[in-house]
Amino acid sequence: MKVTQAEIVISAVQQSQYPEDNLPEIVLLGRSNVGKSSFINTLIQRKGLARTSSQPGKTQTMNFYKINDAFYFVDMPGYGYAKVSKKEREKWGVMIEEYLQKRENMVLVLLLVDSRHEPTEDDRLMYDWLTYYGLDPVIIATKADKISKVRQKKAVDNIFNTLRPRKRSDVILFSAATKMGKDEAWEVIEGRL
Ligand code: GTP
Ligand code: MG
Repeated sequence: MKVTQAEIVISAVQQSQYPEDNLPEIVLLGRSNVGKSSFINTLIQRKGLARTSSQPGKTQTMNFYKINDAFYFVDMPGYGYAKVSKKEREKWGVMIEEYLQKRENMVLVLLLVDSRHEPTEDDRLMYDWLTYYGLDPVIIATKADKISKVRQKKAVDNIFNTLRPRKRSDVILFSAATKMGKDEAWEVIEGRL
């Protein structure tokens, strides 16, 4: 898809603030710092539209980015950030569950995991929760530029064996630095729009 328009429409914390123009939504989930906001910037070729940071916990709200007046990317705050208080974590849970369980516009969940490490306990819980609710996430293995070709293959094997998606093509190796996986990711997205 050629992106000609991309803008943030709202930073929401609750259902009453979601956009009402009824466009399909692609949601980005994953641990803090895994590269959700960078993924959006890479796909739409805008360096700073979605705010990124080397410090985990940058994205705190659900940010709705409208693309080409055709769909939204919904950038979620990350999970698994140790410095977050219990109260904050609960707030996160309510906010995310409210979206994932009720949002009819949602057409695809992308679950981002770090290709350099085993999926964390939180990644597994998130993945299982999503499949339990029939959401059938596609997994994006980020930061692939930081590991060798051999380790990239091992990472995909590992993710496939740990999270157990239905097919291998449900795991996409990705790098915001080299743009590896960008075309595959677009293909999946366009298939759902
Ligand atoms: P939160 O908003 O805190 O949940 O994080 P996030 O998942 O949105 O991560 P973000 O996109 O802000 O990226 C975190 C850090 O990782 C930044 O310093 C990015 O530049 C870096 N980063 C993200 N993707 C890649 C990648 O593919 N390769 C490399 N080398 N660095 C990346
Ligand atoms: Mg972010």
